[in-house]
Amino acid sequence: MTKTRVLTGITTTGTPHLGNYVGAIKPAIEASQDESVQSFYFLADLHALIKCQDPRRVQQSRLEIAATWLALGLDTDNAIFYRQSDIPEIPELTWLLSCVCAKGLMNRAHAYKAAVAENEEAGNQDPDRGITMGLFSYPVLMAADILMFNANRVPVGRDQIQHIEMARDIAGRFNHLYHGEHFTLPEAVVDEKVEVLNGLDGRKMSKSYNNTIPLFVSEKKLLKLVRKIKTNSLEPGEPKDPDSCTLFQIYAAFASAEETEVMRQEYEDGIGWGEAKNRVFEYLNAHLREPRERYQALMEDPGHIESVLKKGADRARAEAAPVMDRLREAAGLGRFV
Ligand code: TRP
Repeated sequence: MTKTRVLTGITTTGTPHLGNYVGAIKPAIEASQDESVQSFYFLADLHALIKCQDPRRVQQSRLEIAATWLALGLDTDNAIFYRQSDIPEIPELTWLLSCVCAKGLMNRAHAYKAAVAENEEAGNQDPDRGITMGLFSYPVLMAADILMFNANRVPVGRDQIQHIEMARDIAGRFNHLYHGEHFTLPEAVVDEKVEVLNGLDGRKMSKSYNNTIPLFVSEKKLLKLVRKIKTNSLEPGEPKDPDSCTLFQIYAAFASAEETEVMRQEYEDGIGWGEAKNRVFEYLNAHLREPRERYQALMEDPGHIESVLKKGADRARAEAAPVMDRLREAAGLGRFV
């Protein structure tokens, strides 16, 4: 039986936070336990260079993200877990795809259009000011990530759907030009059930808003951050609305359905904000304590992480190298004998 291939990448520019956990890491780790799928999860560190040219931050983020996924229980015998930059076939495929990808298609990419619009609003003479080729052709690299492994399903956030459509478009064009079913057409999977967590200020939890709660901060820091979550001026004893409350939302994302119902009742009964925050902190802390310890041990043993990723890269390259041989041949770059 051939297994469905599920693939997704994590751009390595930040420190994983509760929103990443609930929205991406937890569902991915769960999905990887399904016997009927082969999952490919990778650190999109070549993509990181588009957004971040601070080498220390890129390096640190790669380590933190790898340690986070391992600490949270990713089974790397099951899932193929690797660094994009360890797979030289990916940039090679990126070039083959660039040569069949219409420039006009890239002109329509959201990230590029947003950057141009920003320049226009700022009254810049050159609409492409400050825009690199990396940003412009970002979707081609992403297409190579996906097509390299003939992924069937690509779990992503809404903002990435366009990129998957572009990957399909480029794949179709390559298949057509070079007469063959070289690539599987991938499908974006956007899980409607997966929650988008809000951050300290009530907006979506995101590094760019600087409102995150990192997953593995110390106990003390976690308490401090939970206390910072924005609430309102209702007094203890006054009933509170759980559904518009970031604190409640964060609790519900971790707690069981029954525990959430109990908390809902407490809101209606007028629990004070101080107490609610203490309760949410206690709950989070109890659940994060063990993975936090594993995380710290992993961060102190980069050699172990390196060897896990090396094993992943070997498995990934065992897939990628023969595919790349066939693609080279299809494009007229095969061996002479
Ligand atoms: N662009 C994705 C993001 O920012 C990360 C990514 C890179 C990715 N390559 C990928 C996701 C391939 C899915 C498949 O979230």
